[in-house]
Amino acid sequence: MTQKSKVAVIGLGNIGTAIATNLTKGNRSVIVADRTIEKANQLYQKLGSLVQPATIADAVKEADIVVLAIYFDPIKEFFKTYAQELEGKIIVDPSNPIALDENGGFKKIIGSDESAGQILSTLLPNHAKLAKALGTLGAASLANASFQTPEKSVEFYTTDDTSINNEIEELIRDNGFEPLRIGNLNQSIRIEVFGDLHEFGALGKTVTLSEAQQAI
Ligand SMILES: NC(=O)c1ccc[n+]([C@@H]2O[C@H](COP(=O)([O-])OP(=O)(O)OC[C@H]3O[C@@H](n4cnc5c(N)ncnc54)[C@H](OP(=O)(O)O)[C@@H]3O)[C@@H](O)[C@H]2O)c1
Repeated sequence: MTQKSKVAVIGLGNIGTAIATNLTKGNRSVIVADRTIEKANQLYQKLGSLVQPATIADAVKEADIVVLAIYFDPIKEFFKTYAQELEGKIIVDPSNPIALDENGGFKKIIGSDESAGQILSTLLPNHAKLAKALGTLGAASLANASFQTPEKSVEFYTTDDTSINNEIEELIRDNGFEPLRIGNLNQSIRIEVFGDLHEFGALGKTVTLSEAQQAI
């Protein structure tokens, strides 16, 4: 059996915790890190030995795939701070470029025609490979719809670098979802909040593969 790529999840809030939990359900090891080591240690206590708590610097160094479960603007800073460590790595971006609006809803914090995926693709550290993935569902569905039977729910993804498709698809499967690439990073707007393929956009729900194929 070939060895799976090492995954690190950085940022252990709603999304990072759901991803790490799903991976352990999928019997996949995961390195976890947050700004302080406490959250990582707590997750290890809760989920057991498939979870490896680490500092952010060690997590990025050790992993092949770095999932940045943090907000869009901090990801830009993260690219600068860890530029060297991220060289040549696969980076997974689940971010939605949104903030609370004055009515208690959400608004985009970038142009209406822009996507976080496309913007981040222009800021990548050297030889890093970016996939937009694992952000196309809300945190509740990411946790509750994983490993759904009899038919899995879909997690859409985009990437410009098709050489990483297999690793991204394995990561999504190990999270308990069916992967479906919808194109290059310039298609990311479709799978971010308000997009036609996002749970909090025109799609409005989780979908199975046959439903997803009709939607795209
Ligand atoms: N929530 C959703 O339904 C949802 C759905 C799809 C995509 N997303 C996207 O997923 C990302 C995370 O969202 P979330 O809801 O999980 O947020 P969250 O619950 O607020 O968690 C963010 C976590 O990241 C940590 N963090 C922040 N900046 C960091 C940095 N520079 N380095 C390391 N850790 C850092 C935070 O630590 P502190 O506690 O120290 O601040 C916190 O633990 C966002 O980009 C969001 O748009 C969210």
